[in-house]
Amino acid sequence: MKTANDHFIAFECLNSIGNSLELEEMLSEVISTFIRWTGAIAGKYIEPESLSSVPKHIGIDFSTPEILIASDEPFGLHQTSEGTVILDVPVDSGHFLFVFREDTAIESFGIMLSTFRIKLFNAINACKNVENLRTLNVNLEQQLDAEKNKNKMTEKLMISQSRMAVMGEMIGMIAHQWRQPITVIGIIANNTLLDIQLENTNSKQLINDLKLIDKHIHFLSRTIDDFRNFFRPNKLPQPVTFGEIAKDLMTIMGKSFDSQQIFLSFEGDSEIAFTTYKNELLQVFLNILNNAKDAFAENIIEHPAIRFHLSENEKNSLLFLISNNAGSIPSHILERIFEPYFSTKSEKNGTGLGLYMSSIIVEKHLNGSLRACSDANETTFAVHIPKNSNAKQYNVY
Ligand SMILES: Nc1ncnc2c1ncn2[C@@H]1O[C@H](COP(=O)(O)OP(=O)(O)OP(=O)(O)O)[C@@H](O)[C@H]1O
Ligand SMILES: [Mg+2]
Repeated sequence: MKTANDHFIAFECLNSIGNSLELEEMLSEVISTFIRWTGAIAGKYIEPESLSSVPKHIGIDFSTPEILIASDEPFGLHQTSEGTVILDVPVDSGHFLFVFREDTAIESFGIMLSTFRIKLFNAINACKNVENLRTLNVNLEQQLDAEKNKNKMTEKLMISQSRMAVMGEMIGMIAHQWRQPITVIGIIANNTLLDIQLENTNSKQLINDLKLIDKHIHFLSRTIDDFRNFFRPNKLPQPVTFGEIAKDLMTIMGKSFDSQQIFLSFEGDSEIAFTTYKNELLQVFLNILNNAKDAFAENIIEHPAIRFHLSENEKNSLLFLISNNAGSIPSHILERIFEPYFSTKSEKNGTGLGLYMSSIIVEKHLNGSLRACSDANETTFAVHIPKNSNAKQYNVY
């Protein structure tokens, strides 16, 4: 018959089960409570076959009996050589083991603990599930981070591919700017050489020629500076006027447009002032203008012309309309031109990133929108941006 004391011990032990979702903490509380109330010398929980993260034992370590009781038995007793008895209560894949002096009421503690087996089993499993969920969560977070990094890398790659393509165009434009001064320098050098051979040198003439060479060299070096400044991304928005934008575009593209007899006109008040990431906006315009230049060449247009029109739309926004008369873009192409890597230029080996990057720049960096429409003769790109861009810093790759 159970005494009031037995009930009290059972109540305390039962109460200690499942008070934490940390496996080690929960089991430690159960073991220490059981030791305290039953007078056991030591106690531990082990999972002999466990592959999970459960440590080899929880509690005070002592030698584990070689053969443990089968899991379908309520409990077992193992006699030790030190004159003690080990109580062995199997719970699912683990065992609770408690060392007692021989003269203790071990059997009744065995019966008591074995009646808690379902509760112990549930509490252990709850802890393990929480642990698995935590690991799963960490794995998911790691996967998410990896995906984010992958996306960032792809974006970086695209930006650098697009920049390489723009640089390719730039080298072509520099070549146009340089052709004339280099020819002049070459002619002066040849003439001077001839004068020396004919012993016809005249120091005044020589000085004039050298001054002319110097002037042209300055022009060459200024061209490089213009292009270099243009390709350096702005970190902060800067004040600029429509007139300055027009001048920069003419400096960069003028000569190459002249060589193909492309007529570029600017319509709108050149005094219109706004604040934006100027170089990024120029990069967008350059992509649009270069595409028009390619379309003129492909469609063999007799009088190629580009109209660049600026209007102040609503209170704080600007609308740039850039139209060219290179013919229409078929609708199945038009709907794809802003997709990354979409290009119809197999001969020129287009990257198909020009307009994609332009839309990213306009939408993400300049807080605006970029659209295109095309009718029988004309294609128009509309760049809509706020008059004053926020001075938020963005990543420059
Ligand atoms: N003004 C235009 N007239 C006709 N087609 C155009 C025009 N602008 C763009 N396109 C079409 O849009 C496609 C995508 O343009 P995008 O600038 O993104 O790439 P791309 O010009 O082909 O390559 P890249 O810019 O690297 O030279 C072009 O291949 C072309 O078919
Ligand atoms: Mg392009």
